[in-house]
Amino acid sequence: MGKTLISWFLFCFIFGALIPTLMGKNADSDDVWWRKRAALARERILKAYKPNPGDVVAELNQKTQQALEHSPAETAPRNSTRRNLGKKYLGPCLATNPIDRCWRCDPNWAKNRKRYANCAQGFGANAIGGKYGPIYVVTDSSDNDMVNPKPGTLRHAVIQPGPLWIIFSQSMTIRLNQELIMTSNKTIDGRGAMVNIMGGAGITIQYVHNVIISNIKITNIVASNGGMIRDSVDHYGFRTPADGDAISIYGSHDVWIDHLSMSQGSDGLIDAVMGSTAITISNSHFVRHDKVLLFGGRNTDEIDSRMQITVAFNHFGKKLVQRMPRCRRGFFHLVNNDYTHWEMYAIGGSHHATIISQGNRYIAPPLPDKKQVTHREADAPESEWRKWTWLTDHDVFLAGAYFIPSGDPYGAATFAALEKIKPAPGSQVYQLTRFAGAISCKEGIPC
Ligand SMILES: *[C@@H]1O[C@H](CO)[C@@H](O)[C@H](O)[C@H]1NC(C)=O
Ligand SMILES: *[C@@H]1O[C@H](CO)[C@@H](O)[C@H](O)[C@H]1NC(C)=O
Repeated sequence: MGKTLISWFLFCFIFGALIPTLMGKNADSDDVWWRKRAALARERILKAYKPNPGDVVAELNQKTQQALEHSPAETAPRNSTRRNLGKKYLGPCLATNPIDRCWRCDPNWAKNRKRYANCAQGFGANAIGGKYGPIYVVTDSSDNDMVNPKPGTLRHAVIQPGPLWIIFSQSMTIRLNQELIMTSNKTIDGRGAMVNIMGGAGITIQYVHNVIISNIKITNIVASNGGMIRDSVDHYGFRTPADGDAISIYGSHDVWIDHLSMSQGSDGLIDAVMGSTAITISNSHFVRHDKVLLFGGRNTDEIDSRMQITVAFNHFGKKLVQRMPRCRRGFFHLVNNDYTHWEMYAIGGSHHATIISQGNRYIAPPLPDKKQVTHREADAPESEWRKWTWLTDHDVFLAGAYFIPSGDPYGAATFAALEKIKPAPGSQVYQLTRFAGAISCKEGIPC
């Protein structure tokens, strides 16, 4: 008995001492690993910065105008908060915006999958994902081993070195056990299948570059516990719990998110923080969620002044509350989006964020005190926020919606380009966003 007790004490003593040492060591080497990556990412972010963002804005607006010249005028009710009424569009292929026109009506889109790599517009236009890599077919929806993921799973695909174009053998639902930590030069291309990432952890794009995520549904993402997770073929380490962002872009650049359907996350749907830049979020459909898009996570992250993000052709739909987006510091082009519901506000910001709102349609909720599109965080006095450039141009306001602009409209040469080329007007937003969200595409016919 006594001996057993002594052995037990000995066991506890040794183990008690050993576990923290092991964990500590692991955490230390992890720290070094992540610090190195953070430093590299920072350098790259600074290089990705465009000194003339007005040119990027003007170029997208010009292409949108051209795309509209080729698309038949839309007859659908333009000011209705209810959109397609659940009805599927059955006419000939209609691609109304410059991104969709690049690929959607090509009956051979599936044979020419990688042509899509050249379709991004706006600040994320250089994201080519896995264009120069092989195709990887995900055949297995399971996600059971975080350290040695099984070949054929999405987790196995995203940790591979080198460029990879990831597609799916069939429709599937994937519940991620932990954050899906992506590496650079990857495309997740859900076209041709209905891929549902739901009920588990979300996608993490941390200190990487050149990622495309397209045509999937992401719903009911919840916080995860953390633990050992592999983030590349040559490294795995301990991750602390994740908040439950559906997509978290952290210190990364050249990211394009297109045709996603997103809803009901426990934290943000898409967060772009730590200076993440050169990002386009397009053709997506957001519903049933509180904090939709966060650009810039903390007041102290000065690197966020390098953020340059395009939000175009999205539908902000039913039961959304706030942050479409909520911005800190950087430069944000919100163009030709359809805002049909919000419960608190649509666009928020602080810390001198620059917001260029062009050609959006804003339909206010039936709440008399929630008609204002814009929201400045309460800690900034009016004398301060009056200096922030928040510009509205060719937007359409319905049901009492209004936008409080600020800043000097004649300031910064940056905006000279905006004067020359006008955005497509908000009255054409229904047409431009009509196919927002994940769409069902079949091989051999236009999508
Ligand atoms: C991604 O691809 C680019 C272009 O081929 C290359 O320069 C870069 O090193 C790649 N990044 C990584 C992390 O492999
Ligand atoms: C839409 O337009 C019709 C007629 O033009 C008007 O009666 C109605 O109030 C408008 N709806 C909204 C949501 O603004």
